[in-house]
Amino acid sequence: MTIPDIERAAALFGNRFVTQEVPTDAIPDEGMTAVDAMRLVAEDLALEGDPARNLATFVTTWMEPEAQRIIANNLHRNFIDHAEYPRTAEIEQRCIRMLADLFNAPGETTGARTQGSSEAIMLGALSLKWKWRKRREAAGEPSTHPNLVFGGDVHVVWEKFCRYFDVEPRIVPLQKGKYTIGPDDVAPHIDENTIGVAAVLGTTFTGHKDDIVGINDLLVRTKKERGLDVPLHVDAASGGFVWPFLYPDSKWDFRLEQVRSINVSGHKFGLVYPGVGWLIFRERSDLADDLVFTENYLGKTDATFTLNFSTGSSMVLAQYYNLVRFGRAGYTYIMRGMQKNAQLLAEKLEAMGRFELIGADEETLPLAAFRLAGDEVYDEFDIAWQLSAERGWMVPAYTLPPDAEDITIMRALVKETLSREHVDTLATDIETACATLARKGGADESERRQIVISPGH
Ligand SMILES: Cc1ncc(COP(=O)(O)O)c(C=O)c1O
Repeated sequence: MTIPDIERAAALFGNRFVTQEVPTDAIPDEGMTAVDAMRLVAEDLALEGDPARNLATFVTTWMEPEAQRIIANNLHRNFIDHAEYPRTAEIEQRCIRMLADLFNAPGETTGARTQGSSEAIMLGALSLKWKWRKRREAAGEPSTHPNLVFGGDVHVVWEKFCRYFDVEPRIVPLQKGKYTIGPDDVAPHIDENTIGVAAVLGTTFTGHKDDIVGINDLLVRTKKERGLDVPLHVDAASGGFVWPFLYPDSKWDFRLEQVRSINVSGHKFGLVYPGVGWLIFRERSDLADDLVFTENYLGKTDATFTLNFSTGSSMVLAQYYNLVRFGRAGYTYIMRGMQKNAQLLAEKLEAMGRFELIGADEETLPLAAFRLAGDEVYDEFDIAWQLSAERGWMVPAYTLPPDAEDITIMRALVKETLSREHVDTLATDIETACATLARKGGADESERRQIVISPGH
């Protein structure tokens, strides 16, 4: 067949990329049909991991068909065009008000929709820095050496903030057997240049919370005794949609006096696809005025407080859909289901006799965090590899941050899509992977080189 014949045959019967190389380096001179382009992308993605078996991620991997319809129907709406899309802007404000209420804000407040918790944290921490500088200037004190206090259990975004925005990070190291921080860890680091303390609700590493009540009490005492008003920001990226439903009496939010701002990822336990996050202030005055920009490019004077500008509307609308669709009862039901399955998985792991669980009896996210209890011919990285090679489960193994870096743990997130049946299968698959590794004496060097070492996100 000549080239035009081949092209014609491909157009009639199928897919030219069955036999042709795909474009990878330069935009092709000629385009292709929509069907070809669609198949090209779909075939690449066929080699991707299956999100339903990705137990590394905190991020939502399934939404209801009705929510998917809202998302698909609104992809053409730029969220930032508030003048053109005022209802979308109003829906964002409803979400902010609902979350402020969920987090027990004392009165009317403000906040922002963001791309995720990372942007929310950058903005929240910038506000801490700006407010601190204003206080220092008003007191006639220097404002050249700001610092921020947090534990080694935080997500990398906190160190990023410090580096990008020139703030000294004061990081409390973890210890063997202690993977969160409390007031005694924080106290020695606080001084007049501390812009704030960040505490985590549901850490990326083990799912637990810092002693937020203890840190708040310390900061209340610091205010009374030393005259230093140090705000507390709670990174509730994962925990913000879990604690209110699983542990409603546990205080971590605006019920605590020094908690001035909270971030939460809508795309984690808010049960929305990526990317939506939220930053909520305790009071309007906690947002530094200088960070709000006014512009009128889009036809109407508008105030923005974001790092990004243009972005999609769909996930904001999907967040509102979830909030009204599930209500408190629905979120509670879903969170309890995940928690029940996480506990079942933990019990099964414990019953195998070779794993120890990490803080399973504490308040935690719906997950199982575990490590090998004794010496085996294989390690946690080998199990992660074997499990993914044999059954496609993505269960990460990673070392903890300093000074607990010689501790390796594994962590399986239990989300809505991990049914009881899946938990049974996963437990059996872990058992089988361990048996294979015992037989072959651990993972091979070539296999070890392919292991991804990260807590996921
Ligand atoms: C505690 C914590 N903070 C912040 C982040 C960053 O959140 P995002 O991915 O929404 O930007 C994560 C992500 O896993 C996290 O676990």
